[in-house]
Amino acid sequence: MFKEFSKDFWWGAASSGPQHEGGATEGGREPSIWDKYYEMAPNRFFNEIGPSECGDFYHRFKEDLSLLKELGLSTYRTSIQWSRLLPYGATEPNPDALRFYNEVIDTMLDLGITPFMNLHHFDMPWSFQEKGGWENRDTIKHYRYFAEQCFKHFGDRVPYWFSFNEPIVVPYIAYIGDYLYPNAMDMHRAMNVAYHTAIAHAEMMDAFRESGVKAKAGIILNIAPSYPRSEHPEDLKAARLADLFHNESFKDPSLKGVYSEELIKFMQDNKMPLPILKGDDKIIAKGKVDVLGVNYYAPQRTKAKENIPNPKAPIRPETFFDIYDMPGKKMNPYRGWEIYPQGIYDCLTDIKDNYGNIETFISENGMGVENEERFRNEKGYIEDDYRIGFITDHLNQVHKAIDEGCNCKGYHLWTFVDNWSWQNAYKNRYGYVELQLNNNKKRVIKKSGYWIKEVTKNNGYEI
Ligand code: BG6
Repeated sequence: MFKEFSKDFWWGAASSGPQHEGGATEGGREPSIWDKYYEMAPNRFFNEIGPSECGDFYHRFKEDLSLLKELGLSTYRTSIQWSRLLPYGATEPNPDALRFYNEVIDTMLDLGITPFMNLHHFDMPWSFQEKGGWENRDTIKHYRYFAEQCFKHFGDRVPYWFSFNEPIVVPYIAYIGDYLYPNAMDMHRAMNVAYHTAIAHAEMMDAFRESGVKAKAGIILNIAPSYPRSEHPEDLKAARLADLFHNESFKDPSLKGVYSEELIKFMQDNKMPLPILKGDDKIIAKGKVDVLGVNYYAPQRTKAKENIPNPKAPIRPETFFDIYDMPGKKMNPYRGWEIYPQGIYDCLTDIKDNYGNIETFISENGMGVENEERFRNEKGYIEDDYRIGFITDHLNQVHKAIDEGCNCKGYHLWTFVDNWSWQNAYKNRYGYVELQLNNNKKRVIKKSGYWIKEVTKNNGYEI
């Protein structure tokens, strides 16, 4: 049976400035929170490979984009690094950054690749992080200014803009989990950061509308559908809370233009009031997006707490519910994430049924696998059949969702060329194209790359 997609389906891939650009110290770029965190704690990064060891898109973007074209992909998302465009709080854009991003955008357009540009991918410039980052409300106006500069200089050629990639991640990894500076272990600070980020998103949308740029703007959310262990009321409550913190904290402001009253009340009741100022509701109302990017990797499974938490330990989402380790779940052992293709369908159906069926697309989905060299064949390329299987299983669910009326316009794999994965550095590889780190960063198409070339040519695949 042939699974056919629409003629104008966005077959694409996603990456980000901090993970693939490189040129970290070139062209006047300022260090971001990741560069500084690597200086502070290199041992936390796999094989001590830091953010400057990227795929060098900064110098090799023409090669990457030509390869993208060769595989028939027609859309590509990356990000403009704030730390490159306006280093050290500059008010005038850095000329080298203008040159670089202009060249990237123009090259894409020349090749017939539609640019999707994101403005923030966990990468706060260090000079703003030192002043409190997203905990400091002042950062929002600087971020808005950065967005305005992006629209002014590149708005005439970029049809899709995004305020943030996965804005709930920084609160989780830096303020609840121990994975990024300032390693706060403080849920109150985390949710303050999330709240300020939601305001920043709305400011970006407002700046976008004021700029008059003829394009669409939105946000990219890592939606993890929340499944309870059972129908027991306490399990249901656990799943509800996980959904509230992880998903609705950003779905409500960006899809409904409101901040969840339930979340506000929960934080208030638990003595962690959000830093709400008078008039914020009017700002948040401006945050309704034109387009939503859905990053889907894995669901969250939750259950009622088994034990009463230590009352003196830091408060975390898991103070209120437990993670449920469902027997028999299929796992990606390298990344430790569950593989559950139906989750992508559930995400899209939820957007259709509960959020006005807004225009959406799968902005990230993918499978990180360690030590892929073991699958290299005699022709010299990696046979990543597991990735082809993973993508097919998820695309089948996307296809079903579209058949049932979901307004989903495309599928972007994470990622195109293997890129630097934060603390995991190059442990797990995600791309259609291998990055040979020890071979002058040579790009070698994997079997999945040849496979997607056929898929893009035929607008579908046989199952
Ligand atoms: C997404 C992010 O959460 O997942 C990417 O937007 C990230 O930046 C990707 O690289 C895969 O996760 P990881 O941690 O394996 O790199």
